[in-house]
Amino acid sequence: MEVANMIKLGIIGTNWITGQFIEAAHESKEFKLTSVYSRSEAKAKDFGEQYGATNFYDNVTDFFASDSFEAIYIASPNSLHFEQIKLAIKAGKKVIAEKPMVSNPTEMAEVQEVLKKHPESQLFEAARQIHQENFKIIEQKVTVMETIQGATLTYMKYSSRYDAILAGEEPNIFSPKFSGGALQDLGVYVVYDAIAWFGAPLKVQYYPTMLPTGVDGKGVAILTYKDFNVTLNVGKTANSYLMSEIYGLKDTIVMDNAAELNEVVYRDGSDKEDMLSQFPAKNPMLAEANAFARVINNPGDAASIADYKKWQALSIAVNQVLFDLRQSAGIEFPADHK
Ligand SMILES: NC(=O)c1ccc[n+]([C@@H]2O[C@H](COP(=O)([O-])OP(=O)(O)OC[C@H]3O[C@@H](n4cnc5c(N)ncnc54)[C@H](OP(=O)(O)O)[C@@H]3O)[C@@H](O)[C@H]2O)c1
Repeated sequence: MEVANMIKLGIIGTNWITGQFIEAAHESKEFKLTSVYSRSEAKAKDFGEQYGATNFYDNVTDFFASDSFEAIYIASPNSLHFEQIKLAIKAGKKVIAEKPMVSNPTEMAEVQEVLKKHPESQLFEAARQIHQENFKIIEQKVTVMETIQGATLTYMKYSSRYDAILAGEEPNIFSPKFSGGALQDLGVYVVYDAIAWFGAPLKVQYYPTMLPTGVDGKGVAILTYKDFNVTLNVGKTANSYLMSEIYGLKDTIVMDNAAELNEVVYRDGSDKEDMLSQFPAKNPMLAEANAFARVINNPGDAASIADYKKWQALSIAVNQVLFDLRQSAGIEFPADHK
């Protein structure tokens, strides 16, 4: 694809994750970074120039008024997504918002209302793993297994920012002000898994290990379905090397990691093992960059319309379950009381 036909990309957030998304977007050959917003123009320039950007802003109004970009990737602290997403939709941009898209169902409903008034815009949640081939392979396998008796899904990784908590500080990711915590951060992935593979649960309960800041550092969630439970282990204050599993009758799907899905094996209950997974792309955000570009570039195409609807429904359901889990444990954010 020629540069002229590429989707011009703007970004908010200048941390490493934005670099990883830009690299995926460029690798897809569908996007070209043109514009960067940062609280500091010098930082915007410093960060953006290494990826070829040419427009830099420290004023959010000027940024969104600019036609130097068509799509925006938002990777700011969680609680800031809500206002930034609304501004981006109102400016008619295609919006790729990092997970968790917004803090609660009230914000989600408002965003959906704004979206309805701006049909030229589109909104995507950057839940990277649902676009990966190995995720879809599991989704498909679950539909053909005769019996499902639940799952145990784990995503627990020590965060370097927990060092700051131990030193008595309050980094954004562990702050209620920024809608942080383990569930909001890594929990999003396993809630996505559960809802995409098994549907919305009937009842949920979260048992967190709380931090002095008022958010969860780790925890166990139980999602209750009609015929089974799904257990989620999430955390940012410890490392887990547990496999994740989906239980059939005698058969089991075994994953190395419920969010990264590098290796997925189907065991039939005898000695037989089938490797279901494909070798994943080096950049875990490449699949979503390709998927979003396909939908942005082909808005009238039936497959794009169906995918977009499915992702929107999933995003709304995940947002509701994350909120219900927080409610079950009494975890509140300032964003819940605006
Ligand atoms: N998909 C993934 O694999 C993945 C991985 C990591 C993070 N994420 C998501 O990406 C988002 C950002 O996470 P992060 O860990 O990068 O967050 P972060 O470091 O706390 O902040 C991200 C950016 O937001 C700006 N920022 C920081 N503090 C701010 C404040 N107090 N007020 C206004 N702007 C502020 C900074 O950009 P400037 O200094 O340039 O303004 C910073 O680069 C989160 O939603 C997170 O869930 C996703």
